[in-house]
Amino acid sequence: MAEQTTYIMVKPDGVQRGLTEEIISRFEGIGLTLVGRRDLTPDLEIAESHYGIHKERPFYPDLIDFITSGPVVAMAWRGEDAIAASRKLIGATNWEEAEPGTIRADFARSIDHNVIHGSDGEETASFELGLWFPEGLDG
Ligand code: RTP
Ligand code: MG
Repeated sequence: MAEQTTYIMVKPDGVQRGLTEEIISRFEGIGLTLVGRRDLTPDLEIAESHYGIHKERPFYPDLIDFITSGPVVAMAWRGEDAIAASRKLIGATNWEEAEPGTIRADFARSIDHNVIHGSDGEETASFELGLWFPEGLDG
């Protein structure tokens, strides 16, 4: 295991429902450190870059509409094995398949509006961190 930094984002539904602080405390609870935070409403350009990999999927237009629909909290979290640890804390894409106690099992009730995003690997994490934090991170 090694120290990693991962990109985590509270999606518009999570922000709108007031889940940000609860989510932050869950990440602190697994021992990760917050090393960057930006609150913003994503524009089309950043949304399309972030989800470019899903461009050909049927759900892509709705995904872009959703992620640009309101404020998100873009965060960088650092610690041992941060990428996999975060994905485990978040739970499966579909909340019905998410492990009990995960963020999505506890708070999501739709596959489209599933509260939170987390990078799925090292390459994705470095791409997403560069995209959302073009000026770099704290420390
Ligand atoms: P995310 O990227 O948002 O963290 O989610 P994920 O890795 O768990 O899932 P991914 O496969 O990357 O899909 C990105 C987002 O697209 C929506 N989606 N809808 N209707 C569907 O079958 C479907 N599949 C994916 C979800 O909102 C998912 O978070
Ligand atoms: Mg993904």
